[in-house]
Amino acid sequence: MKETVLEVKDLVTTFKSADGPLPAVRGASFSVKKGETLCIVGESGCGKSITALSIMGLLPSNGMIADGSIFFNQKNLAEMSPKQMQKVRGNDVSMIFQEPMTALNPVFTVGFQIREPLMIHLKLSKKQAHMRGIELLKMVGIPSPVERMNQFPHELSGGMRQRVMIAIALSCNPSLLIADEPTTALDVTIQAQIIDLLNDLKEQLDMSMIMITHDMGVVAEIADRVIVMYAGEIIEEGRVEEIYENPQHPYTKGLLASVPNVDDPEFDLKPIVGSMPMLNEQISGCRFHPRCPFAFDKCMEKSPETFQVTDKQNVRCWLQEEGVEQNGGRRASSL
Ligand SMILES: Nc1ncnc2c1ncn2[C@@H]1O[C@H](COP(=O)(O)OP(=O)(O)OP(=O)(O)O)[C@@H](O)[C@H]1O
Ligand SMILES: [Mg+2]
Repeated sequence: MKETVLEVKDLVTTFKSADGPLPAVRGASFSVKKGETLCIVGESGCGKSITALSIMGLLPSNGMIADGSIFFNQKNLAEMSPKQMQKVRGNDVSMIFQEPMTALNPVFTVGFQIREPLMIHLKLSKKQAHMRGIELLKMVGIPSPVERMNQFPHELSGGMRQRVMIAIALSCNPSLLIADEPTTALDVTIQAQIIDLLNDLKEQLDMSMIMITHDMGVVAEIADRVIVMYAGEIIEEGRVEEIYENPQHPYTKGLLASVPNVDDPEFDLKPIVGSMPMLNEQISGCRFHPRCPFAFDKCMEKSPETFQVTDKQNVRCWLQEEGVEQNGGRRASSL
């Protein structure tokens, strides 16, 4: 059994508001093993980025970890000071963001930005950092890396900028890389190249990866395991094959049904009806019940327990409870 690199337990992350703290992540628990790729999927606003930023210690100033633990290599990141977290970010855990233009500083050259973490965290000299920077640019597939070191971000294409960001993220040999929608700002063909690059680098460097994405095609290509989030909660988790071939939660089924099928042009897209609740919206029982075609009385009254489907797949849904089908669940109507 591979060792666990990251163990998030009962994570609650809240934002300050006039009405008191509003939870954006509501008791999320999951783990990542060495060498594994975990994908986090779910609609916009479900809490994917806030989960990632909680791990990184990079929450916006009005956000905080209100409860739970984040163990990384046996240390609880949730209890670390900003200074300690800065060290973790430089050395052990890195993140790639959605928009490479905002993540790179427009006034400094690529070389400056890639040398800096190497000099600070790995204590390399400027010359050593420069050489390592060139190697890193080569590793992420940037042509003419020596010349690129002297260029500014605006002189590069979007795809090249994202490659630079990946090079910077990998500069201190992290054991965990978090990629938050790393390709949404890019053209489709470039997107595929970046995903392939990340996948190759993960294998080559024996890293673990958390990939946050809307794109179920990307998930199918790179995930070992998948967690599905809805309104701040993890509602289903499983191996990628389990999630695709035997999804259990009506929301997961809905997500998969809303993915276009290139092999079948007749395929009827079925978006999930309705929208996700706002953070301040009070919903009794299961937070998905107002949108769920199978909801029955219990779903409106009680928050679902977690039911184990296989050793790796579990789901938070009352339909899993024994006897529900016979006892009036509306499961017969098809999604
Ligand atoms: N600084 C903030 N202050 C208050 N609420 C916030 C803040 N940042 C995010 N939120 C709220 O937290 C919730 C989760 O946001 P998050 O960014 O994690 O969503 P997401 O799943 O990453 O969505 P997307 O797919 O659009 O990136 C949303 O309701 C969002 O409005
Ligand atoms: Mg996000």
